[in-house]
Amino acid sequence: MAAATDSAAGKAGFRAWLNKRLPVDEFMESQLIGYFAPKNFNLWYFFGSLALLVFVIQILSGIFLTMHYKPSEALAFDSVEYIMREVEGGWIIRYMHSTGASFFFIVVYLHMFRAMIYGSYRAPRELLWILGMLLYLALMAEAFMGYVLPWGNMSYWGAQVIVNLFGTIPVIGPGIVEWIRGDYGIADSTLNRFFALHVIAVPFAIAFLILMHLVALRQTGSNNPDGIEIKARLNANGKPVDGIPFHPYYTVKDVVGVGVFLIFFCGVIFFVPTFGGLFLEKPNFEPANYLSTPQHIAPVWYFTAFYAMLRAVPDQQMGALLMLLAIVVLFFLPWLDRSPVKSIRYKGWLSKIFLAAFVVSFIALSYLGLMPADGLYVILARIFTAVYFAFFILMPWYTSIEKTKPVPERVTYHG
Ligand code: HEM
Repeated sequence: MAAATDSAAGKAGFRAWLNKRLPVDEFMESQLIGYFAPKNFNLWYFFGSLALLVFVIQILSGIFLTMHYKPSEALAFDSVEYIMREVEGGWIIRYMHSTGASFFFIVVYLHMFRAMIYGSYRAPRELLWILGMLLYLALMAEAFMGYVLPWGNMSYWGAQVIVNLFGTIPVIGPGIVEWIRGDYGIADSTLNRFFALHVIAVPFAIAFLILMHLVALRQTGSNNPDGIEIKARLNANGKPVDGIPFHPYYTVKDVVGVGVFLIFFCGVIFFVPTFGGLFLEKPNFEPANYLSTPQHIAPVWYFTAFYAMLRAVPDQQMGALLMLLAIVVLFFLPWLDRSPVKSIRYKGWLSKIFLAAFVVSFIALSYLGLMPADGLYVILARIFTAVYFAFFILMPWYTSIEKTKPVPERVTYHG
């Protein structure tokens, strides 16, 4: 009788067997086919699924790197060279991982920017945004510790600079620095614990946060380029009139994004794996040497905006605080934006000008963080730091006084 019901429902054999034990079809129906996403998604909506893809690439390439990597002060650098020269396919695995780190940040920065232009951080998606911010922090920790592992000269000196920043915390700072290092300097014990955290603890935290991020997204539903809540207009079946089933429409569309992404990703791996020293810095091709500081210590490009802020202030404690604030302020975006509309499409000129200034300041700071901290570079870093913060601090003012455009009742879609 049960078999007859299963085949009547179009399920038979293994599929019926499986579904009795694991609700695969039920999950597909309730979470993907029955889940309606706005029909007006544009290019900006590719980056969430791409972030997911890069996460998988990092885990898979990381597993194979771990098979040959040696987390010890004496062997780490040579083991990476061994992977590059002797292990079959080792070079591609390593370049996948190092390029993957940079692409993770490219994708996540574009993903965050999308949320900023369409006001996706606004109610009811504040928690989704906060979970995203926690992901961003976890990603920063993961990238920083991963960068230390090859034990090149920039790994060593970069770790020195970043870990010492914790020393600026009043009273307990020096104790914390020693606790993080597990020694009186950046040493074997530091490398060992960074390895454990990079390979196990932080990836687990990231995976958990991604899951929470997606659950929160499913709960509120996606925002869209018009910043309209599609759940406000339902058809007779209780589905949003401006929505389409996530599967197959967006699953198939996302595959196109994956294809285009892989062209760029493979282009870098095969033709410019170090990306002119931006993705893999030159001093990191020399082993760690505590007697020889690289001429310019700079983190990888994705941290340089914050690094430029750190160096823009003469006092190290203030610089560290400013850098911290630059990240913390992002958490408060949902409450700083007081505009009656969500999407930049319907906001006024002030919002557009401030957003453009924010983008310019972030790119300029990223560049300045790669340059030596003297002369004009420092003055420019101060100016752009002020612009960066002005975007946030003045937001409650400019979003509430400006004149906005009327928001359409239905999403704008040109099929
Ligand atoms: C590992 C990193 C991340 C992964 C895998 C991830 C994944 C996703 C996915 C798959 C979506 C739905 C598809 C899309 O809207 O593009 C999404 C939406 C979203 N994510 Fe993320 N995300 C990550 C990091 C972040 C970060 C760092 C933020 C912000 C701080 C963020 C904020 C958002 C917001 C606000 C949405 C809803 C956007 C909308 O509906 O317009 N995410 N994320």
